[in-house]
Amino acid sequence: MTSHLDHDYLRQALEHDVIAGLTATPKWLPPKWFYDAAGSELFSRITRLPEYYPTRRELAILRARAADLAAVSGADTLVELGSGTSEKTVLLLDALSAAGTLRGYTPVDVDAVTLEAAARRLAERYPGLAVRAVCADFERHLALLPRYGRRMVAFLGGTIGNLEPAARAVFLKELRATLRPGDTFLLGADLVKDPRRLVAAYDDSAGVTAEFNRNVLRVIDRELDADFDPEAFEHVALYDERHDWIEMRLRATRAMRVWVGGLGLAVSFEAGEEMRTEISAKFRPERLLAELESAGFEVRRRYTDPADDFTLVLAAA
Ligand SMILES: C[S@@+](CC[C@H](N)C(=O)[O-])C[C@H]1O[C@@H](n2cnc3c(N)ncnc32)[C@H](O)[C@@H]1O
Repeated sequence: MTSHLDHDYLRQALEHDVIAGLTATPKWLPPKWFYDAAGSELFSRITRLPEYYPTRRELAILRARAADLAAVSGADTLVELGSGTSEKTVLLLDALSAAGTLRGYTPVDVDAVTLEAAARRLAERYPGLAVRAVCADFERHLALLPRYGRRMVAFLGGTIGNLEPAARAVFLKELRATLRPGDTFLLGADLVKDPRRLVAAYDDSAGVTAEFNRNVLRVIDRELDADFDPEAFEHVALYDERHDWIEMRLRATRAMRVWVGGLGLAVSFEAGEEMRTEISAKFRPERLLAELESAGFEVRRRYTDPADDFTLVLAAA
């Protein structure tokens, strides 16, 4: 595995984000810090919850369209950003294999433990496949990813929705700049729908998303020697109709002072104070296509599931 995230780098990046987020008004934390091995495991459980429709919808589209994606892209190498457990990836790898083009797979994720396990599993499943896992931050390291072959860069699961609009525009432009003629970009995005279904997907009755949300506090406790009591924070999910995004927040159930030992930083919370931990933007198709086009992509295919809940777009560089 290649890593652009050694311990010092990760520590500095976490320190930077925690200082910026916990000293801001209102407080916030970026979602990438949910994902240590425990956070990735919680996310996998979320994908199987009855309320969490995006994974099932994206899988349905991939089942129906993977062969077409393989044919239109002509890709021999799949690069997957935010690959996590790579569970959906087998549908794309099978289709590329059936098309006779498959040579390489490059999963890219911030969580080294989950990334390595997924890379090992897929290397065993596809003998002869060149699996080159890269532990990296897709907001910082796109230019450092391997450029072997004719690539399809997949960004699934609606993870693009975690980027705010300005960061999303930068990400799309940077990605476009790393692609060569013949390369393609496969983007999975969640669509605007009834806010009640959206909120339920981020506030499940079994409380798994709440545990996932609190995991960011466990990561900060462990990595920065902080004394957050995760149980003193309530999970909040709401839909912001003005921005078309879900917000996840953590609400302090009492006034408290948290000591972040690794930073020598004391942080005070008022009772009821809310800290934003994630946005998950929901898209209107025309806006998504316009964003891709303004970043320099040419849209080749757009599919949805029968319920029109989720979309997959294949765009050419
Ligand atoms: C919402 S999950 C999606 C996982 C999987 N692609 C899916 O569709 O089910 C987001 C994934 O992206 C990873 N991730 C989040 N922020 C990242 C970043 N800045 N750079 C690289 N990976 C990131 C997480 O570790 C996690 O595996």
